[in-house]
Amino acid sequence: MCGIVGYVGSRSALDVVVEGLRRLEYRGYDSAGVAVISEDGTLQTAKKAGRIENLDRELAGVTITGQTGMGHTRWATHGAPNDRNAHPHTDSFGRIAVVHNGIIENYAELQSELEHRGVEFRSDTDSETVAHLVAAELAASGGVLADAVRAVCRRLQGAFTLVLLDRDHPESIVAARRSSPLVLGIGEGETFLGSDVAAFIEFTKNAVELGQDQVVEIRSDGYTLTDFYGAPAQGKHFTIDWDLQAAEKGGYDFFMLKETQEQPSAVADTLRSHFVNGQITLDEQRLDPGVLREVDKVFVVACGSAYHAGLIAKHAIEHWTRIPVEVEYASEFRYRDPVLDRQTLVVAISQSGETADTLEAVRHAKDQRATVLAICNTNGAQIPRESDAVLYTHAGPEIGVAATKTFTSQVAAVLIVGLALAQARGTKYGDEIRAEFANLQAMPAHIAKTLELADSVRTLAREIADSKAILFVGRHVGYPVALEGALKLKELAYMHAEAFAAGELKHGPIALIEQDLPVVVVMPSPVGRPVLHQKMLSNIAEISARGARTIVIATEGDELAAKYATNLIEVPAVPTLLSPLVTTIPLQVLAAEIAQARGFDIDKPRNLAKSVTVE
Ligand code: F6R
Repeated sequence: MCGIVGYVGSRSALDVVVEGLRRLEYRGYDSAGVAVISEDGTLQTAKKAGRIENLDRELAGVTITGQTGMGHTRWATHGAPNDRNAHPHTDSFGRIAVVHNGIIENYAELQSELEHRGVEFRSDTDSETVAHLVAAELAASGGVLADAVRAVCRRLQGAFTLVLLDRDHPESIVAARRSSPLVLGIGEGETFLGSDVAAFIEFTKNAVELGQDQVVEIRSDGYTLTDFYGAPAQGKHFTIDWDLQAAEKGGYDFFMLKETQEQPSAVADTLRSHFVNGQITLDEQRLDPGVLREVDKVFVVACGSAYHAGLIAKHAIEHWTRIPVEVEYASEFRYRDPVLDRQTLVVAISQSGETADTLEAVRHAKDQRATVLAICNTNGAQIPRESDAVLYTHAGPEIGVAATKTFTSQVAAVLIVGLALAQARGTKYGDEIRAEFANLQAMPAHIAKTLELADSVRTLAREIADSKAILFVGRHVGYPVALEGALKLKELAYMHAEAFAAGELKHGPIALIEQDLPVVVVMPSPVGRPVLHQKMLSNIAEISARGARTIVIATEGDELAAKYATNLIEVPAVPTLLSPLVTTIPLQVLAAEIAQARGFDIDKPRNLAKSVTVE
């Protein structure tokens, strides 16, 4: 949520910052703005509501030269998404500029204190408060920006990443973070700041992870890191393991289309290295070896698509291990009093590793002494850092706002966790685990084959793009797939989409079905779960009988399902627990194609942002 870039070096700061913002735009696109300390010693800012193209137009023909600058792309929390509320915000004297990601929860109180001192606010944001507070602190103490920022941070409540410029000190930038992302990029004679590494991947692969409650001052020749009280702190150095190409569209019109096609390799890379010498291994296993053996309950906490991956995990983990699994939205879990203890394993799934609700759920679980295992796609993000162990998905950067390759990689990852638990607890023999893992290793090829269906799904999408709603139904692991299909359609095509457990239809939702209403049915395989298959056939029959248009995702050769299908989408035959890895694919394509037919930007759906770092 909100993208931040900062730069000190010898290049044009404006060019570096605007390019960085372009790469971070998936984090928010309500407005964009920049601030540069210009060579003539003035603080130059430009900002505009809407996408970066609007800022480009604002900057066209304007000369801003300077080697120290920062920028922001906004996902609005406090204040409407207009020019006035776009970042950067400055103090009353134009000396200090600030960009902010997060929410300052005590801003109202701080703002009224400043107003009593005569400060006039020029925006409706919580962020502007920081510019005035820092300016006041500098005026009172006569100190340097880093000291003033530390003093102000000690007064702030909530989650924030702040980056600040002081017009009078063009040689440095100061930034601070609490529960909101910020990484450093270390170049030759230049230093970068970014909400994530995409901001500076073009210039350096050397990065530094900042810890919680830290303030950093960056200069062209390095950086100084402290806590909020000025005590020296250490960052964690890492090398970025993907290149610029991974963050570019590579010939596709949209990142989402590229990322959908990358799913075979994303899943294969996620599986790689988890099966060594006939044993399942977890990545950074900081867990005591006995811990998995002692687990007697699993909670999965996550949001959105990651939550759907969790629902799939429940089926696999319970089936393979006989351990009860609860799956809960992180936003609900964290304000409840769930029954957890030392023998509970909490699996927190988050591609970004930043999602505020999931992070707080992790903290809630740890407070109750549960063991937390994170499943995450972002190296060194806050959620894996605060968890006891982490299993990384290796999907590479996902820029499209809708989760695609990270979702299927999360499904692969939870299946690995299920097998690891079965191995530790001895609920499956070694040869059974080897066979299950071999099935998993065959999935990338099945996903690739399923992706070949894209053209036929495209034709179907055009036919139903004007429907007023689409329903999705499924049973067992098909139900979370239906939920995922409906979520993709809502977020990309802004269409009314609902998913139901097929058996529940007759308890109410069937009343929604009318002539020609598209209903997507996720069929189980006739071989894997014959009883489920039979029940689903009855459900489709009921839907068809009421005049709906049935779009049936079924296993190749499922002639019975074909009978009831207005449109049949055949996917490869795979074991039931792994089937979401193929049945999800046509639903992703369907949502993307319907959204494009309706003329929407599928990488940047309205009102959304890639990582949700506020509650
Ligand atoms: C849907 C989508 C979101 C995310 C959710 C969790 O396409 O992308 O629903 O799945 O916001 O995000 P992470 O996984 O980063 O915690």
